[in-house]
Amino acid sequence: MKPFITLNKVNKFFNKQHVLKDISLNISQGELIALTGASGSGKSTLLSIIGLLENFDQGSYQLLNHEVTKFDELQLSLLRNKNLGWIFQNFNLIDDMTVLENVILPLRYYKELSVTQQKKAAKKSLKAVGLAEYENSKPAQLSGGQQQRVAIARAIVNKPEIILADEPTGNLDSENQDSIFQLLIELNKQGSTIILVTHANELARYCDRIINIKDGYIMSDSLNNNAIKQNSNGVNH
Ligand SMILES: Nc1ncnc2c1ncn2[C@@H]1O[C@H](COP(=O)(O)OP(=O)(O)O)[C@@H](O)[C@H]1O
Ligand SMILES: [Mg+2]
Repeated sequence: MKPFITLNKVNKFFNKQHVLKDISLNISQGELIALTGASGSGKSTLLSIIGLLENFDQGSYQLLNHEVTKFDELQLSLLRNKNLGWIFQNFNLIDDMTVLENVILPLRYYKELSVTQQKKAAKKSLKAVGLAEYENSKPAQLSGGQQQRVAIARAIVNKPEIILADEPTGNLDSENQDSIFQLLIELNKQGSTIILVTHANELARYCDRIINIKDGYIMSDSLNNNAIKQNSNGVNH
């Protein structure tokens, strides 16, 4: 299968600190990937480069047939807004907007959608994460697990090819952790390519492929033949 994401010898420095070292990576459409490694190993930096939120110093990067190494800020933000959905550990919701307004945010870049169409898409997305009845609530009125569901609804509202999640369950209890993870697995089954940073090994084992980073290097990159994918009823298959 044709790679969706190709990094070739990518290096990243923060001042003099060499944070990512010769990262070469091919990711295909439909993969569910866990990026693991100790704190400070470079996981978030790598995800941010893949997700076009951070630049790099050496190497090249192709995303969805675009040579992004040569892109300017405007081209990067268009590519990002059309094709990528981000989910963060701390949800990154805007407190003084309603749940529905938060979910609509990524669609503001789609000039071709009317306000009515934007609302319709956001409501559909909230329904997909089981929160249709909370559209007029403010984020603070929801539990942590519900807030992360809103963030996921926002990440999928533009039907992105790729979902990037940086420790999405890091602030959740184990029950919510599990339900958010099942939701990500469901999105993957529906076709989304997902790259997930986690240092919870119990979550990584659900993924098809586990890439381990240590001190800025890829230490291992292996298919997880024992991936325990479950459907939303929790039944193994
Ligand atoms: N914006 C930044 N400025 C300077 N140093 C940074 C920045 N972001 C990350 N770093 C450093 O880069 C290294 C890797 O960080 P990070 O990618 O966040 O690791 P991880 O997500 O694996 O914990 C760490 O040493 C961190 O302190
Ligand atoms: Mg991190």
